[in-house]
Amino acid sequence: MKKIGLFYWPKGGNVESCAKKVDAQFSGLPIEMYALDEISDLDFEKYDLFIVGGSTAGADVWEKAHGRNLWFEFFSKVEKADLKDKPVAIFGLGDQVLYPDHFVDGMKNIRDEFAIAGAKLIGRWPVEGYDFTGSDSVEEGMFLGLALDEDQQPDLTDERIEKWVKQIKQEAGL
Ligand SMILES: Cc1cc2nc3c(=O)[nH]c(=O)nc-3n(C[C@H](O)[C@H](O)[C@H](O)COP(=O)(O)O)c2cc1C
Repeated sequence: MKKIGLFYWPKGGNVESCAKKVDAQFSGLPIEMYALDEISDLDFEKYDLFIVGGSTAGADVWEKAHGRNLWFEFFSKVEKADLKDKPVAIFGLGDQVLYPDHFVDGMKNIRDEFAIAGAKLIGRWPVEGYDFTGSDSVEEGMFLGLALDEDQQPDLTDERIEKWVKQIKQEAGL
């Protein structure tokens, strides 16, 4: 059976609560969920499907706040792994009202790093139903992954996650 690795950061906020909801949709399947501070010795290549979630806070704020950027450490592991043609699905938290020009920008960084490792992006998501003016994470009219907005549209989160997980299960052949 295909092994699924779900990785997220940061802890203690919206990303973590959404990661738990995504995880719950895979009950009965072999999924392992880790925050980025829990994976120092992990063998990435054992997973057949990767799910990665994060928020957008602006690199500057982020580095000042954390000193140590766990995303950079994670990405350096990912870049070294051979993930050729393995599917990766991304979800990103953002706030479309306060940051309409940079809504969920961070998903693109995650996609770019997995692309270096040869992974294949699945789980693109329509832009309909959101109100924003710009995002690095939109290509050919679609988000690179599931955009979630717990600040402005919390009521839509559960149904979005449910629908998206169905979609990625189908795309990954689970
Ligand atoms: C300092 C700061 C900067 C942010 N910058 C962005 C941004 O550029 N784009 C965006 O979509 N959301 C931005 N957000 C909103 C967060 O991504 C959003 O509130 C998210 O749900 C936070 O999840 P977390 O608490 O798990 O990190 C920012 C939030 C903060 C506090």
